[in-house]
Amino acid sequence: MEMKRIMAAGMVFCMGIQLFCACGKEQPDIEDKVYLGVAYYDQSDTFLNSLIACLKDEIQDYEEKGYETAMLIRGAGGSQRTQNDQVQELVDAGCNVLCVNLVDRANPSEIIDLARENDVPVIFFNREPVTEDLMQWDRLYYVGAFAEQSGTMQGELAVELIEADSGVDRNRDGKIQYVVLEGEAGHQDAIIRTENAVDTLKSNDIEVEKLSYGIANWNRAQAQNQMLQMISQHQNKIELVLANNDDMALGAVDAYEKLNYTESALPVFLGIDGTDVGLEAVRDLKLAGTVYNDKEGQASAMLKLSVALVTGDGMDKIGFEKERYIYLPYFKVTQSKAEELLKRKNP
Ligand code: GAL
Ligand code: CA
Repeated sequence: MEMKRIMAAGMVFCMGIQLFCACGKEQPDIEDKVYLGVAYYDQSDTFLNSLIACLKDEIQDYEEKGYETAMLIRGAGGSQRTQNDQVQELVDAGCNVLCVNLVDRANPSEIIDLARENDVPVIFFNREPVTEDLMQWDRLYYVGAFAEQSGTMQGELAVELIEADSGVDRNRDGKIQYVVLEGEAGHQDAIIRTENAVDTLKSNDIEVEKLSYGIANWNRAQAQNQMLQMISQHQNKIELVLANNDDMALGAVDAYEKLNYTESALPVFLGIDGTDVGLEAVRDLKLAGTVYNDKEGQASAMLKLSVALVTGDGMDKIGFEKERYIYLPYFKVTQSKAEELLKRKNP
């Protein structure tokens, strides 16, 4: 099924390229054809895969509205060098707009140069380049979310839980012993999420004690390993697990399940993203809550901006911040909201 869809998309794309080549300059409305090249940092990332699934839905909608569209997608397996080559390939294939989720957010220069030489606009997404890089050329944009907001909301969820249930402080010492599972070192979503979650606890007068942290690269299996180590170090002392995303929160749950912990001895787990597996875990009370990373909103903004960039129409209707940035808001999810969101997906 998936393969067929990819092949169908590929064929549409090839037809588009042929048209493009055959008609060349004589076809004035060529710019109505949206050939989207998508490059993302790693095919094994749960959130990014679901964001890209949303992009496929969006492009289909434009197709149904009568636009000629095509989308080519490349995952870089965590290598910036591979991604640079992939972007070259997308440009060579005739893509007229690029959506790039950088591997190394501090290293976009090669991609920017390439895009500029070929006059192909770039929408960076999810992994935010530094402002200086985004200002290198006026056809560079960013679509994402405010990392601060997700951290603050995760902290607020923790505060609400701690205030509602004195049992979270299992050893009753008046402090919450916590550990953190962090995404990648150097990633804005990791550092800022952690800082803001912890600051929110403190500013709400919750006394906290950090026992440990582990870097698990957004990954469930790595998080399980990190968590197993932290449990062996701190045993029953851990009362709260703050994970920078749902997959890592679930990896922490996996670790406790592997050790056959009973429910009453478990800490509180909080994630961020609201992926399908994350929402199911919140519904089933395995995670106490998560913060929804609005992939549908991000995909929709990316497509709208892509179409506007290619056709030159509709730019004035897009609500930019700092002229070239679009940020979608996060929102908090506990059990009832998770149920609602899951029902909306599978009515
Ligand atoms: C974050 C998301 C993570 C991971 C990361 C990759 O926004 O919460 O799950 O996908 O982006 O850059
Ligand atoms: Ca305690």
